[in-house]
Amino acid sequence: MLARVRSSAVSGLDGVMVDVEVDISRAQNPTTSIVGLPDAAVQESRERVRAAIRNSALTWPFNSRVTVNLAPADLRKEGPAYDLPIATGVLVASGQVEADLDDAVFVGELALDGQVRAIRGALPMIAVARDRGACRAFVPVPNAPEAALVEGIEVYPVASLSQLAAHLLGKAAITPWAGDGAEEPEAAGGPDLAEVIGQEHAKRALAIAAAGGHNVLMRGPPGSGKTLLARAIPSILPPMTNDEALEATRIHSVAGLLPAGAGLLRERPFRAPHHTISHAGLVGGGSNPRPGEITLCHHGVLFLDELPEFGSQVLEVLRQPLEDRTVTISRARAAATFPASFALVAAQNPCPCGYRGDPVRQCLCSPAAAARYQRRVSGPVLDRIDIFLDVPRVDYEKLASAAPGEPSAAIAARVGAVRAIQRERFAGTGARLNAEMGPAEVREHAQAKLSEEARGLLRSATQRMALSARAFHRVLKVARTVADFDRADVIGAGHMAEALQYRERVD
Ligand SMILES: Nc1ncnc2c1ncn2[C@@H]1O[C@H](COP(=O)(O)OP(=O)(O)OP(=O)(O)O)[C@@H](O)[C@H]1O
Ligand SMILES: [Mg+2]
Repeated sequence: MLARVRSSAVSGLDGVMVDVEVDISRAQNPTTSIVGLPDAAVQESRERVRAAIRNSALTWPFNSRVTVNLAPADLRKEGPAYDLPIATGVLVASGQVEADLDDAVFVGELALDGQVRAIRGALPMIAVARDRGACRAFVPVPNAPEAALVEGIEVYPVASLSQLAAHLLGKAAITPWAGDGAEEPEAAGGPDLAEVIGQEHAKRALAIAAAGGHNVLMRGPPGSGKTLLARAIPSILPPMTNDEALEATRIHSVAGLLPAGAGLLRERPFRAPHHTISHAGLVGGGSNPRPGEITLCHHGVLFLDELPEFGSQVLEVLRQPLEDRTVTISRARAAATFPASFALVAAQNPCPCGYRGDPVRQCLCSPAAAARYQRRVSGPVLDRIDIFLDVPRVDYEKLASAAPGEPSAAIAARVGAVRAIQRERFAGTGARLNAEMGPAEVREHAQAKLSEEARGLLRSATQRMALSARAFHRVLKVARTVADFDRADVIGAGHMAEALQYRERVD
């Protein structure tokens, strides 16, 4: 007998429908085969499905040839998510379950005892099924909250194969997932900016970067609070809008990084990969490309601590995504374009010993060693930094007095207000943040809004600092954000001076 069960897969960040056909015919020598470009994990599905069926008080068809075909044949099938539809197909084709399943989609991995395990990418998988007319989705229990983010499809959380069989036989119905999928927003995990003593200049600059999405490089001696400052950034970022949250949740779903039982992600991503990270880990990779860190932090912050320690090749691959805000990964079999719009926050010491320019401790590095250290981060990467930030040692008086600083919540409110201004400014256009403005938008919203004095400042600074065209545009974008903090439409001399001062580098 032949059965057809609908399932889906992930390609890039999108779902693709996959039909699972199961044919069972009598044969002297029982065999099971899976065809249709399956990878090793799908081949192993045979053993898992057979054991799961036996251990669920169901029967594996004996003296039979079982053929499983996964269609379309040109799509490479990966991973264990086909276990559940294959098992369902076997149950239907062997007459143990009689059900009309044309309006249903099945995804899930099976354990040998018949339990259903979580899979990657449930959100896009169920979304495409809904688009193709499915109205029931059978998914692993841990994936139910994310699947339920897809509107217009009933989600059935399946704990085990026997539970699914009982449901399909009408013996014991599974209750559809009723939660709306939206978890309570969690409090930000990182430190509060109030914990950071002094560094007012840095806090101000980080607020500007957080509001406008600008890239920051912090430099200073060991223990001045660079890492602490960076880790406090999530506490001043506004929550994501619904669309942003759905996009971020989809990315984390495909990467298999949604926290167990989580529905919609609310907090902006903050990713801090270690400097030993591989090229593929950072930008994404794999034969069926998966998103890397720069996509996981889409709509949020990528923090690269100890910047010069990242291999120069790793840093160079950031150049294109930092400019285009997307990354394209080409492989022999598939190419994928992933979104990668994030603010880069980086930190480093000024030299190998760490004390170059420190007023108290003497730097032990030769000028050549310090220069070599600086050169580890190339000019093109530095040209993409908007805000160069000195984070000097905090002196004793300040440390000892330890008057608490402004709490993050107060700064976050200002950042939120500036984001609201930008939402209004860019309504109906591609950009969301000042940092994302294209050349035409820079002209309209920044260049055309300069006061006479600000224009003069910019002109002389461009010559004095030999700004590249890119740097020139980046200064204008930062100046736009600085003016937005003052709710000023016109960019004044003070705003421009602050933006230019962030551009100055002390080497
Ligand atoms: N400005 C500060 N206010 C309060 N605590 C601070 C400050 N600076 C440093 N500290 C304390 O010192 C610890 C180390 O700081 P942090 O890791 O941020 O230094 P760093 O600048 O990143 O140094 P390194 O260059 O060695 O990485 C912090 O966990 C905190 O306890
Ligand atoms: Mg540090």
